[in-house]
Amino acid sequence: MIYLDSAATTFQKPSAVEAAMVEALRAMSSPGRGGYPAAMAAAEAAFDCRSELAELFGLDNPEQVAFTFNATHGLNIAIKTLVPPGGRVVISGYEHNAVTRPLAALEADVRIAEAPLFQPEAVSDAFAKLVDGGVDAVICSHVSNVFGFIQPVEAVAVLCRARGVPLIIDDSQAAGVLPLNMTELGAAFAAMPGHKGLYGPQGTGVLLCGKGVMPRPLLEGGTGSLSIQQEMPDFLPDRLEAGTHNVPGIAGLLAGVRYVRQRGLEAICRRERQLAQMAAEELRVLPGVTVYARPDLHAQAGVLSFTAEGREAEALGEALAERGIAVRAGLHCAPLAHSSAGTLESGTVRLSFSDFNTPEEVSCLVSAMREILS
Ligand code: ALA
Repeated sequence: MIYLDSAATTFQKPSAVEAAMVEALRAMSSPGRGGYPAAMAAAEAAFDCRSELAELFGLDNPEQVAFTFNATHGLNIAIKTLVPPGGRVVISGYEHNAVTRPLAALEADVRIAEAPLFQPEAVSDAFAKLVDGGVDAVICSHVSNVFGFIQPVEAVAVLCRARGVPLIIDDSQAAGVLPLNMTELGAAFAAMPGHKGLYGPQGTGVLLCGKGVMPRPLLEGGTGSLSIQQEMPDFLPDRLEAGTHNVPGIAGLLAGVRYVRQRGLEAICRRERQLAQMAAEELRVLPGVTVYARPDLHAQAGVLSFTAEGREAEALGEALAERGIAVRAGLHCAPLAHSSAGTLESGTVRLSFSDFNTPEEVSCLVSAMREILS
């Protein structure tokens, strides 16, 4: 299989990830549940994972890193901490259902900072027009899961700080690819999956909590701390981590994060962008194909969407699957992003790269598309 669906989950993982998970099953129990070796080994893996993530994302204290099941889980905590029912929120035009559905459930008053694709300055301007001191939260994805559009989270953070509004960053497609410094940004929260660019297994995620932020737990239960007390502890990460941890997942995530740090974000991003650039150039010349990318891939990471005139996106995705090529087609759980880009009716076929893809795989994809369209 040629796997080009890393925006959903990375499939090829560094070999150390599987080894770490097997070792966790063999030698680790639960962190914080005892002083015996298996519990201590689990506690050490969890602490090391938090520490690596804190360093990668510019947090002073590893305790500001809470483990979640995925990015959606973290976004739900962040949103439900900051946004009261009916509250006012400003979001970018490229948010995922993981943001828009919790806001709909809260019946929030949502204003959209509308901007065309690949124009980061227009995104900042749109936020500047909508954000004032009465807004409960601003939410901005760092990279669009559909189009790879890199949004100007730094500029949005400056605006939020100046206007005293907490910022939530959806770092799902950027974690492991683009730098993010929580302390410099002063963001309230950043949520991300462990199973995409951080190369951990499915079922892992991370919520980074800004300094001084006290999140509202989504789940209450045992934490191995303050057991006599019936309220959740008022300190992190225990406040957000009720119940037994996904220890094999955390051990795998630790190995994935170490791979990313060793390889370097810049090298990973460069590779993914080169593959996206190659795909864009070669697909663009096929009959009827529209590629959503600027020629120089301005403001774009290694995620690329395209459509073909007269062909349904899902049908193209199936035709590629029949040829052993895995992509995601349709609306990608992000109807708002498609609406902003004008592709809500058609959907798109999405290619999303990881550090393990090769130019040969892109050539195969392009040949397959040529065959399908001919
Ligand atoms: N949000 C993920 C995707 O874009 C699952 O495929």
